[in-house]
Amino acid sequence: MSMSRREFLRLGLAGGVALALPFGTSTCSGSGGGSTGTVLPSKARLSEPFQTPLPVPPVLEPARSDASTDYFEMVQKLGKAEILPGLETEVWGYDGIFPGPTVESRSRRKIVVRQRNDLPVPVSTHLHGGRTPPGSDGYPTDLIMPRGMKHYASMSGHGSMEMEDARRYKDYEYPNGQRAATLWYHDHRTDFTGPQVWRGLAGFYILRDDEEDALPLPKGEKDVPLMICDRSFDEEGSFLYPSLDSSLMGEPGVEDDYMDGVLGDTILVNGAPWPVMEVSNTRYRFRILNASNARRYELALDPEPGDSTSFVQVGSDGGLLGAPIDHHRIHIGQAERFDVVVDFSKYEVSTEVTLKNLLGDGKTANVMRFRVVRKEKEESTVPSRLSDMDEFDALGEADATRTREFRFTRVGDGGKVMWGINGEPFDSERMDARPELGSTEIWHLRVAPAAHPIHLHLVHFKVLSRNGRRTLPTDAGWKDTVDLTSGEEASVLVRFDGYRGRYVFHCHNLEHEDMMMMANFEVV
Ligand code: C2O
Ligand code: CU
Repeated sequence: MSMSRREFLRLGLAGGVALALPFGTSTCSGSGGGSTGTVLPSKARLSEPFQTPLPVPPVLEPARSDASTDYFEMVQKLGKAEILPGLETEVWGYDGIFPGPTVESRSRRKIVVRQRNDLPVPVSTHLHGGRTPPGSDGYPTDLIMPRGMKHYASMSGHGSMEMEDARRYKDYEYPNGQRAATLWYHDHRTDFTGPQVWRGLAGFYILRDDEEDALPLPKGEKDVPLMICDRSFDEEGSFLYPSLDSSLMGEPGVEDDYMDGVLGDTILVNGAPWPVMEVSNTRYRFRILNASNARRYELALDPEPGDSTSFVQVGSDGGLLGAPIDHHRIHIGQAERFDVVVDFSKYEVSTEVTLKNLLGDGKTANVMRFRVVRKEKEESTVPSRLSDMDEFDALGEADATRTREFRFTRVGDGGKVMWGINGEPFDSERMDARPELGSTEIWHLRVAPAAHPIHLHLVHFKVLSRNGRRTLPTDAGWKDTVDLTSGEEASVLVRFDGYRGRYVFHCHNLEHEDMMMMANFEVV
């Protein structure tokens, strides 16, 4: 039996072989300020900012419904989009569009999404933030095969993995046994998540419930999902990404210079470069998602409203907060969501308000623009009490029956650098934690020498502390992803509710994830 790259690595470490790791290298370059990664410059001429109207992804209609369940269907396929003016971009999208169609569902109403694969590569779909049974969670090797592929033998060291007969679709079951929240779905194929999400495989999943419906928050046209991500483009307009093998069927990974992460030089919102949205002088709710591979943002409004803060946060990854939180700025790591209300009545009609990225420079310092174009009667408000958070408030350190520690660092494979957790690169065969169903644990997460947004599947958690001190205002509420910068640590309190079975936790810098910064836990 031949030995995989990972087995070599473990033996190397076990034998005490000294590894020369470039720990000293800077974790950002170009205009990636605050992000871990390297900017990939576009070859195409980029568009002028604030010209394209903000698109909003279409909401998917169910194919059919019965008493207990709504059934949806999506086809993952090639599509064409005009992202830069006059140029055509090939998209690998859910239903061929980027972002994919928005799935809307209701708390405790089950849905089934049939995903078909018409792409030339294997895919796996994960509902990020979903409390999902293990068979529908989009485990990285739980693949839907491309056309014409009978069996799958990965060339990336999964030699021992045996696949059943190829299937071309999979029914994902989402029981939705959780609160209203802004979730998203995206590709999770082992070793190739970074390039496949970059090509377009990501969409919103909005879960609603009666508690939220009853609130006087902005609704309808004024409840707007914003998927922020960065991309780069080649001359003809196609997405540029430094894959070692652009067919995504051979060697995984990116060119050495991009090991820390791939940063685009073009900021897209809902798939459009630096778009503009016309608004009335009223409140709007924005469900902000950072769907970037490696870029982190610090969002701010310019100008700031004179007598109040820019953003009133009403929800986090796991749904509504107990009470709103005012922010002048919002740090958002990859995969995090912030539900915020912006009150445009603080501006005169005809004001142009730019959503800035204070971590960017040059073009990446801008995200999008709002143009206050008309007066309108205000119908919404932000109540001082949003949601019943008794369960969250009651959850304390004393509930934890066990503490675990996970270090997110580089690991070396001879001269080659990868990323790992507690010194180990991902291995689908290795179980790294076995929490009991219904139990509560404290997980200490420490990261170096780069920023790592840490995500756990299945659960939402409470951030207890950062660096032994108080949490940040942006850590509030139920979280499924905690964004840590180099040298930071956080303690999170996790209740393993939901389902027994195998899940992953990982860094949501997608290049780190593909280069093995992932591990398994099994709820027993
Ligand atoms: Cu957003 Cu494991 O993923
Ligand atoms: Cu990372």
